[in-house]
Amino acid sequence: MIVATRPAGSGRRLHPLAVRIMHWINAVAMIVMITSGWGIYNDDVIIRGLHFPDYLRLGDWAAWSLNWHFAGMWLSVLNGLAYLVYGSITGRLRERMLPIRIAEVWATIRDTLHFKLAHEDLTVYNAVQKLLYIIVILAGIAQVVTGVAIWKPIQFSGLVALLGGFQTARVIHFAGMTIIFGFLIVHVVLALLIPQTLLAMVTGGPRIARSPGQPDRHT
Ligand code: HEM
Repeated sequence: MIVATRPAGSGRRLHPLAVRIMHWINAVAMIVMITSGWGIYNDDVIIRGLHFPDYLRLGDWAAWSLNWHFAGMWLSVLNGLAYLVYGSITGRLRERMLPIRIAEVWATIRDTLHFKLAHEDLTVYNAVQKLLYIIVILAGIAQVVTGVAIWKPIQFSGLVALLGGFQTARVIHFAGMTIIFGFLIVHVVLALLIPQTLLAMVTGGPRIARSPGQPDRHT
């Protein structure tokens, strides 16, 4: 069973309103980016035989998909920047995502493989969660860098060379999409399996008096 182990305090919400707004804007922007990216990809595939079905792609043809991709890009870049700036200034990013201890990562993987999806304290991210969030944030930043390289390969020829050439930059961009898409599937499945977390990302969750991310010590 999942409960917030602390009684409701008078402090801030687990997920402040700003974080919730940015999270859901990001979710929409990412879905736009991924599905429009599939539309662009279909025009010149990287993996022979891999085409994304029409009903999964945003934009009837590549040029329309590209328009959607740029619209989603501005939304996700500005929103992502706001999230990183907010998280850094308030210290929330460090509090929630760090530290990550290897022993805890293994313990969480072991528990998950034994179907122990305990999430007793909503206010603490487990080590695997923290790791995945950091990976997806870094993948998002990498997508911007590789995206810029394949968008303006002449103007950013130095960057393209650094990435190993235009085609390699494209492949890295595709790999980044795969990481983000894989994350999204696991992330949504877990949110549905533990619906209290989903509710908290909508309502803000319990009020917390202490810094988020600091586990309770019951020793
Ligand atoms: C419809 C899609 C999505 C759903 C239903 C969803 C759901 C959630 C939920 C329930 C949490 C809170 C987890 C917890 O408290 O244990 C969360 C946090 C988070 N999600 Fe999502 N999410 C979605 C899309 C995304 C996407 C596309 C990304 C990034 C590519 C993302 C990145 C994150 C991150 C980084 C956090 C931690 C936020 C923080 O505390 O600062 N999510 N999500």
